[in-house]
Amino acid sequence: MSTSQKSFYLTTPIYYVNDSPHIGTAYTTVAGDVLTRWHRQKGESVWFLTGTDEHGQKVLSAAEAHGVAPQDWCDRLVEDSWKPVWKSLNIANDDFIRTTEPRHMERVQRFLSRLKDQGHIYSGKYEGPYCIGCEEFKLPGDLLEGDLCPIHSKPCEIVSEENWFFKLSAFVPALLEHYKNNPQACEPASARNEVISFLEGDVQDLSISRSTFDWGIPVPWDTKQVIYVWFDALLNYATAVGLDDEAGSVGGKKFAQTWPADVHLVGKDILRFHAVIWPAMLMAGGLPLAKKVFAHGWLMVGGEKMSKSKANKIAPAEITDHFGVDAFRYYFLRAIPFGQDGSFSWEDMAARYTSELANDFGNLASRLIAMIEKYCDGAIPEVAHDSTLESALSETVSKADAAMCALDFQGGITSIMEFCKRVNGYVTEKEPWVVAKDESRKGELDAILYNTAESIRALAILLHPVMPETTEILWESLGASSGCGSLAEQKISDVATWGQLKQGSKVTKGAVLFPRLEEKL
Ligand code: MSP
Repeated sequence: MSTSQKSFYLTTPIYYVNDSPHIGTAYTTVAGDVLTRWHRQKGESVWFLTGTDEHGQKVLSAAEAHGVAPQDWCDRLVEDSWKPVWKSLNIANDDFIRTTEPRHMERVQRFLSRLKDQGHIYSGKYEGPYCIGCEEFKLPGDLLEGDLCPIHSKPCEIVSEENWFFKLSAFVPALLEHYKNNPQACEPASARNEVISFLEGDVQDLSISRSTFDWGIPVPWDTKQVIYVWFDALLNYATAVGLDDEAGSVGGKKFAQTWPADVHLVGKDILRFHAVIWPAMLMAGGLPLAKKVFAHGWLMVGGEKMSKSKANKIAPAEITDHFGVDAFRYYFLRAIPFGQDGSFSWEDMAARYTSELANDFGNLASRLIAMIEKYCDGAIPEVAHDSTLESALSETVSKADAAMCALDFQGGITSIMEFCKRVNGYVTEKEPWVVAKDESRKGELDAILYNTAESIRALAILLHPVMPETTEILWESLGASSGCGSLAEQKISDVATWGQLKQGSKVTKGAVLFPRLEEKL
């Protein structure tokens, strides 16, 4: 791959390390992983960044509550919890940024000094409500009765400080123009409308420093103040890839290759930071804006947003221990339209696991392998063609690719699973177990089994970004690597080319892809 090729650069939010990951934070990270794996499978150069947001009052309070110094607290949580959980979910991020790393802190200070020199920063007095849960200065109109934060249902503290301010309001006309000319820069449309109506309101300048605690990056020219945690955090997307480094340096080259980001995935609660403040910061710094901010909905449990601060937190392991990692990765993206809220229920997950994964997909694969073992001595039969399956596959690949690239994970996965149903229908209709009884129909039997195997080859590739582990087992049991190469190197654009499984390749009965749930209870 040429080093000058612009990478498809995707980021997740960086997560507060006040606690360990839950299924809400895993939802964003898995979505990012699936999308970047899809783009890799398209043969593109990809850069996938995730990380942790370690400064600010919220993390400081968590450390204090545990009687640990904040840096030690962050080190422990990142190493013992965040990184291992992402590994257990098969997240293939290319980098992991921590906001306490020197590479980040130095670049943030340099960028801030540049903005100050260019006249975007001034000193002033801030007075108003602040929600520590959101780490956000709130407008009185944002709050519920009793000055409660609508997200955390907790009272805000009243902050009164001499701070440094960023001239956010100066960028409002340019931001409105940006969204008018580039509607795809903020999706879905409901999120864009929310941003536009916010911009059409009374946008205030932003306090970007705090003086009442010291857990943060010092303001370079006024070290009694630390940089506001969101100003620090948003910059991670650019500091991680070499913000403002010399053009010919390692960082400079990386920046040229990755920036602007293609997609910032965020939850809808942090949309304004990403679609108002962040692009204004980039405009102030004279940098290109990210191509897209996509705001997804919330995972709800018992009718409420699942979160660390409410008592309804579910750790990913509670689900993966029961259903497996791949079913976890599959379920949320398949069941909830990306961009809308969705409720999690064990019953719905169990129902989809059984009907879609165990029955439609897993059984199809195990029946095929068993029939090739029984009727063909375990070897893939001669290449055959079925025009209906072939055209259905071509259509599936185009539909799935368009949907996945548009972040319509549900649409993409549904079209792949519809093809899977179609292949099941083909097997049911052709009744290979009946054809096998008549030796004179051996050619017909071989063709049915080849067409089914070839369809399953395609399913393994198309589902690989969603379920990397299971599809790898399937690929091996199909004997596909000997003739086709590794699963990871299969390209989406070639999936629909029929006849790739090689005659004579040996199939093997692998592990059951999706064991019956009763056996796991
Ligand atoms: N640290 C900030 C982000 C800084 S990005 C420059 C932050 N961290 S967070 O840990 O509180 O949340 C991170 C992400 O997790 C947000 O996108 C948020 O929407 C998402 N989720 C938290 N709970 C969620 C659900 N219940 N459902 C879906 N996503 C959820 O905000």
